[in-house]
Amino acid sequence: MKVLIDERGRKYLVEGRELHTKQGIVRIEDDAHRASSHLGHSFVVLDPDIVDIYEKMPRAGSFMLKKDIALILACLGVGAGKTVVDAGAGSGALAIFLGNVVGPGGRVVTYERNRDFAERAERNLGLAGLQGVVEVRVRDVLDDGFDEPDSSADAVTLDMKESWKMISEAKRVLRRGGRTAIYTVYVEHARAAHEALLKEGFAEVRTIETVTREMEFRRQGSRPKTGRVGHSGYLTFGRKV
Ligand SMILES: C[S@@+](CC[C@H](N)C(=O)[O-])C[C@H]1O[C@@H](n2cnc3c(N)ncnc32)[C@H](O)[C@@H]1O
Repeated sequence: MKVLIDERGRKYLVEGRELHTKQGIVRIEDDAHRASSHLGHSFVVLDPDIVDIYEKMPRAGSFMLKKDIALILACLGVGAGKTVVDAGAGSGALAIFLGNVVGPGGRVVTYERNRDFAERAERNLGLAGLQGVVEVRVRDVLDDGFDEPDSSADAVTLDMKESWKMISEAKRVLRRGGRTAIYTVYVEHARAAHEALLKEGFAEVRTIETVTREMEFRRQGSRPKTGRVGHSGYLTFGRKV
């Protein structure tokens, strides 16, 4: 698999040897760093990394943004060899980055109640080469909970409907000192998660919204991009004590 970047910065994930675009047909040669379409447009050729996979993988429904994933990874403190329980998987965006940080010695189990979404998440994990690290389980966790034994997980991440109802189950599977992150779109739901963590005796409970602004540097001057700077969600964190 290769990633091709065109003259305008558009990115293409290519599994075969040929890419068909409006700029013509591009044939990708072994070990080439550049390629040209039959219409004369040039492309940079790279091996895809986890960021390329995240940006170009098939997705549906809401999808966690890098700014929120980054904060989750930083605030959970998970690293190589750790065990993380995640729900719901969606297209697998967060699960892919979790798998990337826990690595081959670690383990991520991501639960998803929708079979089609679970299958897409599995395919996306395959694109990222993480099938051996991240396992997708089809399950409604509100009805049936997690499979993991008590105190077995280093971290629990929740991004699903009514996630605040999963706090006691998250507490059950977390080891003492383990951390949880709950992503909610609406502030009422963030508050429900925050209050549920306090009620269950979690420490270090806080809710954060992350706002990022990309800069643009033009001939006329520099300023934050005027494109969409929208709300994504709130992140609520807590630590089992
Ligand atoms: C916003 S998406 C998750 C996005 C994903 N975390 C990401 O990184 O992009 C929410 C997902 O939770 C799933 N879900 C909702 N309720 C669930 C439940 N009770 N058990 C398991 N999955 C659930 C939905 O089917 C949906 O795919």
